[in-house]
Amino acid sequence: MLEDIVKASRSYRRFHEEKPIEPETLKGLVDLARLSPSAANLQPLKYIISADPELNARIFPILAWAGYLKDWPGPAKGERPSAYIVILGDTEITRNFGCDHGIAAQSIMLGAAEKGLGGCMIGSIDRQKLREALHIPDRYEILLVLALGYPKERVMLEEVPQDGDIRYYRDPEGVHHVPKRRLDDIMLARQSEYTIK
Ligand SMILES: Cc1cc2nc3c(=O)[nH]c(=O)nc-3n(C[C@H](O)[C@H](O)[C@H](O)COP(=O)(O)O)c2cc1C
Repeated sequence: MLEDIVKASRSYRRFHEEKPIEPETLKGLVDLARLSPSAANLQPLKYIISADPELNARIFPILAWAGYLKDWPGPAKGERPSAYIVILGDTEITRNFGCDHGIAAQSIMLGAAEKGLGGCMIGSIDRQKLREALHIPDRYEILLVLALGYPKERVMLEEVPQDGDIRYYRDPEGVHHVPKRRLDDIMLARQSEYTIK
């Protein structure tokens, strides 16, 4: 069921780094992105995959992990992603990528969840460093990095508490908790302050 896959597709940040992901698997995930909607059907996105420990080690320090977990510097050695997919925008096709990369990223993450993989979309990237590390020509805008691996942590969804705090947190057992707003709180048409005339 799609609902099950959407629920399983959480942001994971600790992985069984020793378990590799085949480049062919990554290519299959990119193929899901290829088939996804694109504004004006321009299809301006390009991809770089990394499933190689040496290349992964170059990408890892360029990314920022879990901004709300102030005393956690990111995944330790042995718990880092086994692979990455870098999503680029080809400025020779357009300079406005709209939400194409978000749609592509979610297709990839849902496909990954279906395969028992997990990962995290990373927007907090030192773009200049990544450009240098991967020799990315100026023609390509760096949009998102998807970190992927076999999850080594539990993630639980819960309701946003009364005080409205949406920050995720990790409990003493290491379980990662993600508050989500209630459906009724995001459905404006069902609230008294918004009425359809
Ligand atoms: C566009 C985008 C950028 C994100 N960038 C980062 C990031 O730089 N670092 C990080 O640790 N998580 C990042 N995340 C993951 C979010 O923190 C995560 O989606 C949120 O905490 C909700 O958790 P969930 O994905 O399990 O629902 C990003 C998510 C999105 C959609």
